[in-house]
Amino acid sequence: MKFFLDTADVEEIRDLNDTGLVDGVTTNPSLIMKSGRDIIEVTREICSIVDGPVSAEVTATDYNGMIEEAAVLAKIADNICIKLPLTMEGLKACKTLSSRGQQTNVTLCFSANQALLAAKAGATYISPFIGRLDDLGLDGMEVIEEIRTIYDNYDFKTQILAASVRTVNHVKDAALIGADVATIPPSTMHKLVKHMLTDAGLSAFLADWEKTGQKIG
Ligand code: G3P
Repeated sequence: MKFFLDTADVEEIRDLNDTGLVDGVTTNPSLIMKSGRDIIEVTREICSIVDGPVSAEVTATDYNGMIEEAAVLAKIADNICIKLPLTMEGLKACKTLSSRGQQTNVTLCFSANQALLAAKAGATYISPFIGRLDDLGLDGMEVIEEIRTIYDNYDFKTQILAASVRTVNHVKDAALIGADVATIPPSTMHKLVKHMLTDAGLSAFLADWEKTGQKIG
């Protein structure tokens, strides 16, 4: 499973990228707004930090506008992935951009049928929003499972990018189903490594080691 960071906070990205465990970044208009920075400037900085794909989202809602904005965003860096909303205009733009070899990420996906359309449009990634489905009492993980089954039935190459990830269980369950990517808020990424038995066990090891009076090296 690839781990993307779901943020436009460059300090968080720099810090976690140093672990060697970060495979890409996803942003969206809300995350750009939260960064308080110019989209081109902050996206360029993110692309300079992370080697993997960096999703930058168009804000136009019409095909021509999306293609124009995609051209601007694609110029930022070679690892730009163009994020497009799951609308008919977005799917049309995805088809065009994907046919030109541009990486695409179709976002705001909430159903398997939407994901089927995105795969037919040649999307590189599909972003089903788990958390927002759960917020409505629906089952976000069930949608991930349905998409996995459909994509495997037809050998679609579109990668399932589990998004709107809110908990460590979202990461685990998406991995159990076989999602290709999880895009994870930094706060959740930090929680993945934590276990109280690990902390307790390490403390016990170090306390016993102290008693030996030894040093390695
Ligand atoms: O990648 C999409 C993500 O940023 C949305 O997350 O928590 O606002 O549903 P959330």
